[in-house]
Amino acid sequence: EQRCWILGIETSCDETSAAVVEDGHRLLSNVISSQVKVHQRFGGVVPEVASRRHVERITWIIQEALDRARVRQQDLSAVAVTQGPGLVGALLIGVAAAKSLSFSQGIPLVGVHHIAGHIYASHLVKPLSFPLIALVVSGGHTELIHMEAHNRFERLGRTRDDAAGEAFDKVARVLELPYPGGPQIEALARKGRPVIDFPRAWLEPDSLDFSFSGLKSAVINWLHRARQQGRQINRADLAASFQAAVQDVLVEKAIRAARQTGVSNLVLAGGVSANTPLREALTQRCHQEGIDLRIPPLELCTDNAAMIAAAGTYRFKDGIRDNLDMNAEPNLPL
Ligand code: KG4
Ligand code: ZN
Repeated sequence: EQRCWILGIETSCDETSAAVVEDGHRLLSNVISSQVKVHQRFGGVVPEVASRRHVERITWIIQEALDRARVRQQDLSAVAVTQGPGLVGALLIGVAAAKSLSFSQGIPLVGVHHIAGHIYASHLVKPLSFPLIALVVSGGHTELIHMEAHNRFERLGRTRDDAAGEAFDKVARVLELPYPGGPQIEALARKGRPVIDFPRAWLEPDSLDFSFSGLKSAVINWLHRARQQGRQINRADLAASFQAAVQDVLVEKAIRAARQTGVSNLVLAGGVSANTPLREALTQRCHQEGIDLRIPPLELCTDNAAMIAAAGTYRFKDGIRDNLDMNAEPNLPL
């Protein structure tokens, strides 16, 4: 049987990435150029700056991904690209690059949902087992997704306000820590203890939705009051307490989703799954509950094109194709 080589392209936020995946699961290359340093001095991602960086790098990154994989453009089976959601100007660069490659080589174009990509990151380590529940936690998303088979996504819950990663980034900001805040909070929390009882938003008794804006406000108010009263502030304890509150809700709701659906495969995905205490707490809970948990390695947790190529392969195999009039969709539904 002929090999399937898919080139993946990801430019939805602040990483420019291209990758080649063989037969949906074998990683041949995964080139990631992070813009974190560029955005750091602004304290967050600046959309115009991100687009410009993507333009400057995308051609070289694609060539590098092909070179490292030792695959020629003309040997590709298809090109898969993140169509959305994300920053529209950033997405457009990847979509334009994918379209021109598709046109010039006469190969199929496949648009991929960014969240689907995050879920398929696990597939690059070990084939996904269905049915599964995916907890996708990133800077833009906090979602619980039910999958019965490849390409079949059902959303069970989502955040009603801030994403989990966004909460980490905002709390880091009030603690005057650099962007992105997640790893900074995690490092600070390691030196503290979760002694402050911040609120956990459980919402309705069987709800699988999330809410993190109340927690963020509680942290800001706590800091404000402590400063007003001239109290000594233990930043490490504050970080540890915030992190514990996020972690408790994420773990509990993921388990709740598995129980409600009777599913025993859980996949953790997205940038926040790089968080060690979260990984450990979820691993322990899943062990107790008899749930098989998959967590991708760190480099596949944050945005990368390999996950897009993997997810794109199964769309390609199902005969899903996009035309050259495909557009970047900042609010693409799953
Ligand atoms: O998936 P990702 O790279 O980009 C989006 O699609 O949003 O996720 C980035 C998010 C940021 O909010 C960042 O603060 C968070 O993931 N993050 C973490 C950690 N590493 C990254 N949050 C908590 N702990 C970490 N170790
Ligand atoms: Zn992402």
